[in-house]
Amino acid sequence: MFYEPKKGIPFEIDPFKSLVFPRPIGWISSISKNGVSNIAPYSYFNSVADDPPQIMFCSNGGTAHSKYKDSLSNILSTKEFVVNFATSATRIQMNNSSRNFKPDEDEFILSKLKKKKSKLVKVPSVKDSPVNLECKLVKTIKLKSNSKKTSTMIIGEVIGIFIKDKFIKNNRVDSVSMRYIARMGYSEYTTVASKFNLNRK
Ligand SMILES: Cc1cc2nc3c(=O)[nH]c(=O)nc-3n(C[C@H](O)[C@H](O)[C@H](O)COP(=O)(O)O)c2cc1C
Repeated sequence: MFYEPKKGIPFEIDPFKSLVFPRPIGWISSISKNGVSNIAPYSYFNSVADDPPQIMFCSNGGTAHSKYKDSLSNILSTKEFVVNFATSATRIQMNNSSRNFKPDEDEFILSKLKKKKSKLVKVPSVKDSPVNLECKLVKTIKLKSNSKKTSTMIIGEVIGIFIKDKFIKNNRVDSVSMRYIARMGYSEYTTVASKFNLNRK
């Protein structure tokens, strides 16, 4: 099968998100200019550079109250955010935090998530995340959009990195034991539960 998306999708459900997978989930915490905490998962997410370390995620569409989702509105106001990671143990809270809450509702409380004070930013981190990346906004990039919905890429510099000590073994990160989850298409997810090595020649 071959198709050109702009001419129509030959499936009941657009399979695009099922073709680029697994997508890591950046579980983004932020605070509003009034200090209300927010948390939401973003799987259009990845690390994109390492000197300095930078990450990006994309916010597509808005809310009932704004042309932007709350995470983007908050980050534009405060210029900072934290990337947390959902695991098998926190998958239900991650899913709950994707609901469309009002901007004045503390999504940590509504999603039953414990906060942890971050070191370099005012935004709280997720206590049960194996890793927290404290970020400062570098820039936003408006992506092409075929509708009235806005698509914005947010790029952040990682200025502080927290790793739970129990996931550091022999001076390396023991990634598999963190049990990160990642997004496939539809409502499907996977857990990172195995790995193999390939040495560069
Ligand atoms: C696993 C998962 C991944 C998601 N990835 C994205 C994404 O990359 N971009 C996006 O705009 N929305 C994404 N969403 C939807 C947002 O999480 C949802 O719209 C949320 O309410 C946004 O919250 P906010 O308004 O507090 O930022 C995702 C939802 C789930 C469950």
